[in-house]
Amino acid sequence: MNNEKRIVLTGFMGVGKSTIARHLASILRTEKVDLDAVIEASEKQTIAEVIETGGIAHFRKIETENLKKVLSEYDARILALGGGAWTIAENRRLIAAQSCTSVWLESTFEHCWRNIKSSKRDRPLARNKEQAKKLFEERQNFYCLTDWHFIIKPDLTSWEIAKKIAEEIFSVKFE
Ligand code: S3P
Repeated sequence: MNNEKRIVLTGFMGVGKSTIARHLASILRTEKVDLDAVIEASEKQTIAEVIETGGIAHFRKIETENLKKVLSEYDARILALGGGAWTIAENRRLIAAQSCTSVWLESTFEHCWRNIKSSKRDRPLARNKEQAKKLFEERQNFYCLTDWHFIIKPDLTSWEIAKKIAEEIFSVKFE
């Protein structure tokens, strides 16, 4: 594959997109950007505050605006999306228009849920297990539209997962 292409990581909340993006950037000696972090910096609010004050539709609008900005203005080769960004058709169109390589970090709901529960981050869409599970199930149909599906085995560390992605997608050879 074209090694200059930007890589976009998606997957459900708690799957480890941001951490894997950080390790992958270090392995590939490149930069990474986190869409949620860009939104928090531009809005001067946490994601939870943006959703709580403006509602989810407002958040999605801001998310798309910031995705446009990142895709057109940022050089970072690795982009970690928030878990809902890929489910929006307009966002997928923007990503495809830039010929990015999209990767679904796929895992079980229970694995994601364990990480959500142990994380300090407030995720308004995952405060309740039943609701989060419903969202998880609805989203499988969108996530599977990515170029690559990468199954996360819970016994692997984020570093090991990033190494495997680098090997399989970027043909990086490790000693
Ligand atoms: C969301 C996921 C979150 C964040 C927001 C909405 C979602 O990001 O963008 O709370 O709709 O799945 P993470 O996937 O990094 O938790």
